[in-house]
Amino acid sequence: MNEATLAPGADTLVAAVKAVTAVAHEGLSSDDALAHAEARKDRAAVRAITLGTLRWYLRLAPSVARLVNRPATDLAPPLRALLITAAHQIEYSRGAYEVSVHLAVDAARGLGLERATGFVNAVLRRFVRERIDLFAAVDADLVARSAHPDWFVRAVAQAWPLQHEELLAANNLHPPMILRVDLSRGGSVASYLRELAAEGRAAQAIEWMPGAIELEHSASVNVLPGFREGRVSVQDTGAQLATHLLDLKPGQRVLDACAAPGGKTGHILEYESELKDVLAMDADERRLMMVSSTLTRLNREARVRRGDLTRSEALADEPLFDRILLDAPCSSTGVIRRHPDIKLLRREEDIAAMAGIQRYILERCFSHLAPRGRLVYATCSVLPEENETQIQSFLANNPEACLLPWPDHLVMPPGALQLKAGVQLLPGTIAGTDGFYYACLGLESSL
Ligand SMILES: C[S@@+](CC[C@H](N)C(=O)[O-])C[C@H]1O[C@@H](n2cnc3c(N)ncnc32)[C@H](O)[C@@H]1O
Repeated sequence: MNEATLAPGADTLVAAVKAVTAVAHEGLSSDDALAHAEARKDRAAVRAITLGTLRWYLRLAPSVARLVNRPATDLAPPLRALLITAAHQIEYSRGAYEVSVHLAVDAARGLGLERATGFVNAVLRRFVRERIDLFAAVDADLVARSAHPDWFVRAVAQAWPLQHEELLAANNLHPPMILRVDLSRGGSVASYLRELAAEGRAAQAIEWMPGAIELEHSASVNVLPGFREGRVSVQDTGAQLATHLLDLKPGQRVLDACAAPGGKTGHILEYESELKDVLAMDADERRLMMVSSTLTRLNREARVRRGDLTRSEALADEPLFDRILLDAPCSSTGVIRRHPDIKLLRREEDIAAMAGIQRYILERCFSHLAPRGRLVYATCSVLPEENETQIQSFLANNPEACLLPWPDHLVMPPGALQLKAGVQLLPGTIAGTDGFYYACLGLESSL
């Protein structure tokens, strides 16, 4: 059946099911899986259904599996994704159950599953009738109740025994939209709040982070005053800390080591306009183009260069840097609320592999730190292997390296965990940030 002949709403469901299939069965990121829907008028709805389904996939899948008289893995991927996406709509959307079932049956036709319409109808009707008992059974287990993979629940329970339940719950909430106001060039939080208020947008300043504003309701960046001219950017408060931790001063050479898509490069340039040199490096050519367009929007300049920092030649012809931001590639387990696909895509064995890459890049960057310099190591991970354990083993292997203190001028985010090595922000704490880890490193000899 042609999608155009489907009932209104069923074609939206078809597009969402295709995206869920691509993530759950083909390993695509949700951004890549949703690319096909970018030009659609209903793209916001497709996105919301897809991300909502991925957020709760690991709770919905075992519930639906109990209604199917064969191993769920025997179902064709689009059929399985359709049942789980429709179950999401029944459980988590405000639509009437009958309508959700009806749309799913129609969507089955749109997906070329004409022969399965009776099956879809029967399974979903049972789901509607039995869902309270189904969830009571699957929710007995924290893994299903929190809709996270088993290995991750074990890892955070071990790392953060006091915080892990709040962390898992926070990962399932809709993330706040946080703005960073460019405080150079005469911008201020108070005046930007007035501009938002004039457009009927409720928002509030975040007390502990200069320049940060939380919008009451998320909005497209295109409707934000001054976004196109670079007066404001979207950046989680936890991510905004990185630039403040660099403690930038005029005349310094700065390396933004893993820079793409350039969120922090832009912040660095806004924060201190008298830097001598800013090099934004990244291994990924395609993502580096995003750095260039970020800088164009912000009307700022930096050197943008491709370089694989696991390789010795990456910085061979570069001078030493006074400040290095190493926002390392990581498991991204601190940003699950923004990218619920991570729950399905990340594997336990990825963590050790990530930690190995981080170790190489950290060694390479640290060898390019000038005397009296400061290197900020950052990840958006909540796993110690990529964070405190990584830094402790780096310090043990590099006696010339030492931890530097949190800058005096910078407020510690409420609820931040001050570890023996570094500071950990966890989702679910009072600051309301994504999960981040920061450690500031310097050379022992220059203290
Ligand atoms: C956490 S993201 C950086 C986000 C960025 N700092 C921002 O604020 O917009 C990590 C980046 O590391 C890059 N990366 C991964 N492996 C790398 C390597 N070997 N050398 C340099 N960059 C690498 C990835 O392409 C990715 O863009």
